[in-house]
Amino acid sequence: MTTLVLSVPELVGPDHENVVRAAEALRAGQLVAFPTETVYGLGANALDASAVARIFEAKGRPANNPLIVHVPTVAEALPLVGHWPEEAARLAERFWPGPLTLVLPRALCVPDVVTAGGATVALRVPAHPVAQALLRAAGVPVAAPSANRSNRLSPTSAEHVLRDLDGRIDLVLDGGAAGSIESTVLDLTTAPPRLLRPGTIAPAELEAIVGRIVLGGGSAEGAGPLPSPGMLARHYAPRTPLVCVEGDGAETVREMSEGELVGWLTRSEPGVGAGKNVVVKVLPDNPVGYAGRLYAALHELDEAGLAWIVVGLPPATGEWLGVRDRLRRAGG
Ligand code: TXA
Ligand code: MG
Repeated sequence: MTTLVLSVPELVGPDHENVVRAAEALRAGQLVAFPTETVYGLGANALDASAVARIFEAKGRPANNPLIVHVPTVAEALPLVGHWPEEAARLAERFWPGPLTLVLPRALCVPDVVTAGGATVALRVPAHPVAQALLRAAGVPVAAPSANRSNRLSPTSAEHVLRDLDGRIDLVLDGGAAGSIESTVLDLTTAPPRLLRPGTIAPAELEAIVGRIVLGGGSAEGAGPLPSPGMLARHYAPRTPLVCVEGDGAETVREMSEGELVGWLTRSEPGVGAGKNVVVKVLPDNPVGYAGRLYAALHELDEAGLAWIVVGLPPATGEWLGVRDRLRRAGG
């Protein structure tokens, strides 16, 4: 199979020629990668069980890991759920379109392959203009995991998608650089709601709307069972071994770079003498800015032939929860 790459400028409508072609491909049961405001997704018509099965095949994803279904507005989400609770309405009003995924009771029209046979479905309304245009043009809900091979780093560009999936999928809509870590996943089928995957929406922002939530459902730092099968400890990982240290990591970098080439992910410009064996990436010192650069930086460091990547962890506060979670997982 040859993967077709179609370029789409940032601001498009559902009648843009390449968007129309991609939408037709989705309706025909093909696999289409597309940008979102988090990472690139690998989409298939969520109501077409055999198309969705091809996603699992292309990614090498275990069949027990359910997929997020993407729709353009709340109206298209409603037929997919068995029940739309008041909390969902309030959260959707505040955060959709945007990087929040809600887990809700499924409707019977959602195929088993999407939900991994479970009684719930995960739904998200992405904000990225290309994703919005594609979903509107497609006119079908789109199941889409991140467009990477299972257990690899999530892609934030069309090049990243092709590196992992060239020849395994039908089409990539190249909408330029995507912007963040994966969406926040909140399970509304439990009381209180459970944060299955932290993202850039801080727990306190969710609690302001739905009251108390339970943290750590599948977090690398949390205890307890893993209700979300996707939340395996080693996930989102670069190939280069990565070590996370509390603080800025300068001491670790100094020691490790004595004999080997080391990458250093930090939030402040290092002083003189970072060392000649050190490749430094300085990311913004705020959670949303940092999340927006994290995967691109890890992809770059992963290509740089390093022995190690050292990360100085940001503080253990609620607003950094999503970033710390991904860094922990990348470190294994
Ligand atoms: O930002 C994102 O969410 C990206 C873009 C493409 O939208 N998608 C994404 O999909 O990260 P994926 O498949 O890589 O991660 C989906 C996560 C997994 O941890 C999966 O287990 C969980 O959501 N999930 C999906 N459906 C679920 C369900 N019904 N119940 C619990 N967890 C679910
Ligand atoms: Mg993923």
